[in-house]
Amino acid sequence: MPRKYYPPIVVNNERMLIDGCDLEEIAKGFGTPLYVTSSNRIRENFDRLRKALSNNFKNFEIKYAVKANSNPHIISVFSELGSGADVSNLNELNLALKGGIPSEKIMLTSNNLHQSEMDEIAKQNIAINFDDIGQLERMKAKLPDLISFRFNPGTGHGYFPGITTGGVKTKFGILEDQILDAYRKAKDLGAKRFGFHYMEGSGILDPQVFRNTFSKAMEVMLRIQEKLDIEFEFIDAGGGLGVPYRPEEEPLDIAEVFSAFRSVFDKNKVDNENLKIIIEPGRYLVADTTVLIGQITNIKNSSEFFVGTDIGMSTLLRPALYGAYHEISLVNKFIGENGPKCTVVGPVCETSDIIGVDRLLPDPEIGDLIIVYNTGAYGYSMSSQYNGNVRPAEVMIVNGAPKLIRIRETFQDLISKVTP
Ligand code: LLP
Repeated sequence: MPRKYYPPIVVNNERMLIDGCDLEEIAKGFGTPLYVTSSNRIRENFDRLRKALSNNFKNFEIKYAVKANSNPHIISVFSELGSGADVSNLNELNLALKGGIPSEKIMLTSNNLHQSEMDEIAKQNIAINFDDIGQLERMKAKLPDLISFRFNPGTGHGYFPGITTGGVKTKFGILEDQILDAYRKAKDLGAKRFGFHYMEGSGILDPQVFRNTFSKAMEVMLRIQEKLDIEFEFIDAGGGLGVPYRPEEEPLDIAEVFSAFRSVFDKNKVDNENLKIIIEPGRYLVADTTVLIGQITNIKNSSEFFVGTDIGMSTLLRPALYGAYHEISLVNKFIGENGPKCTVVGPVCETSDIIGVDRLLPDPEIGDLIIVYNTGAYGYSMSSQYNGNVRPAEVMIVNGAPKLIRIRETFQDLISKVTP
């Protein structure tokens, strides 16, 4: 009896399926390692989020954080759903436009870009969320219509220290003692329309954290509004909605998050008609839409039971970079109680090239297909050519059929930019 599989995989007659397509057939057709995305699951995630927001707000917007996966085919699913986009540089902006997101729904939150890149971005007249006062001053010749600053609430939360973006030790945003001056400067420079933004971290699973920081941000925003006699049009709570990666983790209660936001509006007597709420999720929308399929290339039973695969830290960096946990199972071989405890590793010459430790896999053998879950967010987008590896292919199931949405790189891609 099958025992262990996660969305977007379903099992029918002992076969693993993704949006109705046989996973093993997909792997045979496109090779491994391979990222396989369910477009149905993207829609489900987006609809669930939209519904939870609309239960509390009339005036809201979801902007998909394209850094999570910037393939224009994936972005185009979001544009069909009416999503906007959060982008962090000119290339991401162009990817969002290529994916069909209209410029009026795109907001840039960047830091430390070259002035020439900022000038290029300004030509598109998208909303710009400034990271500091200097960045705004350098743009004064062509200020965008709508201006916001990224507020650093002075506290940070995140699943790992490396993905905690708020707090006094991080490079992001403007701390409370300077935020009023920032908006005053913007007003002095002639800015007319304003928004307020913050983001304290990524991968947060506790609704209380969202409530506390939202409440703090609202308080600071309202103080600025009063002191400077300006009207804020939106408050943007950034991304950060976490997803469970470990089997014992519970999904984030988004209903609780947004009803807490609502109560902050109510407590402060803020009318949602006048103040739009924006969120910019990446992980929540795409993490569990995608599995990474690899193949077992070697078994080494030594100090540990090493299961060697073609998935390396160049394919999926998160475990090596953050110590991130991703569920692993075998394709069409289901977990038994007594599988060996495996250390699943890749082909890169680094000790940190580990995909998972202490995993019970049922009788793993060379040639078996292996599946790594929750790889839709920051999976492909953080892959690299390290160690002479090529980036993998990406497939998305569209209208019930697998569609190649990115070709696997070849040796040519490793040398195409090398001068003769
Ligand atoms: N908006 C801004 C301004 C951001 O900096 C981020 C993520 C997001 C939205 C989306 O956050 P999300 O909803 O995905 O938490 N590479 C790391 C995640 C880094 C996130 C950085 N900023 C990982 O693999 O976990």
